Amino acid sequence: MKKLAFHSYAKLNLYLAVIKKRPDNYHTLFTLFERISLADTIVLKARRDRTIKIACNVPGVPCDHTNLAYRSAHLLQENLRIKQGVDIKITKRIPVASGMGGGSSNAATVLLGLNQLWGLGLTKPRLLDYARRIGSDVPFFIYNTTFASGENRGDCITPLRSLSKVRLWHVLVIPPLKVSTPAIYRAWDRNKTKTTTLASSFLPPQERGRRAKGGLTRARFDVKLLTLALRARKPSTLDGLLFNSLQEVTPSLYPEVGRIFFEFNRRGIRTCLMSGSGPAVFGVVFSRKEAHALGRKLKACNRAWQVCVASTR
Ligand code: C5P
Repeated sequence: MKKLAFHSYAKLNLYLAVIKKRPDNYHTLFTLFERISLADTIVLKARRDRTIKIACNVPGVPCDHTNLAYRSAHLLQENLRIKQGVDIKITKRIPVASGMGGGSSNAATVLLGLNQLWGLGLTKPRLLDYARRIGSDVPFFIYNTTFASGENRGDCITPLRSLSKVRLWHVLVIPPLKVSTPAIYRAWDRNKTKTTTLASSFLPPQERGRRAKGGLTRARFDVKLLTLALRARKPSTLDGLLFNSLQEVTPSLYPEVGRIFFEFNRRGIRTCLMSGSGPAVFGVVFSRKEAHALGRKLKACNRAWQVCVASTR
């Protein structure tokens, strides 16, 4: 039977402004996504019967209908009345529930992969429509782009081709915590009227009030500045431009995340940020050598932290 293999890349959010809560309990966002080299591998093997079977090398990952990769295959099967099934083998390297979009990326890879394997001939708009139904972060991975902005739920994507030549290096630090995204957004709802939090102390003082009151216009302007700074390739100009609204929340619920910022800052790295709802924290540097040297130092801080180096991909 036909078999295809794919990389399923992780993402970072270099900017993530939560604008407001929507009536459907989602939140309006403005975000800047970056696709990075850290990747899972997904192998799809066609089956003659209609079974969808998931196998994964990491024990805690569900292999049932709750897995987003399963949901993608099932959605196509039901919607297009497909008579075939598929064996999906996932080799995980992206830490689970870390804020780096591993499950969403896997879902997008299965949509793109089954489009080939089952010969569906789906256009990009159709794939995006299916992706949106699986999750807010899934559409970004349908685009073959390194950087993109995301609006509405984060699902309305604009690829940023002006950044196509930019290659950043990152040190990723992932503490052994499983963070629930809905719980972090609920905490943001409760928290948004408060001005001082643990994590806002990681922002330069002049940024704190301004950022909180931003709104969509401010977010668009901030991302424009960030885009210009990325093109200039000067790490110092990124300082104060990386931003994540949820960084006001996650470190107060999980103090270990705050300790990661402390360790980055202690080594003179101000260009660090939490990705998505966390707990992964990443630093931005402009060379592979610098990334590996910093990675070694951070690993020595806490053996329980997973530390890895990745680049724009
Ligand atoms: O879209 P997805 O299922 O990945 O979202 C997971 C959870 O994150 C949602 O149930 C919601 O609590 C929160 N979320 C949100 N607003 C967004 C995206 C996600 O509130 N734009």
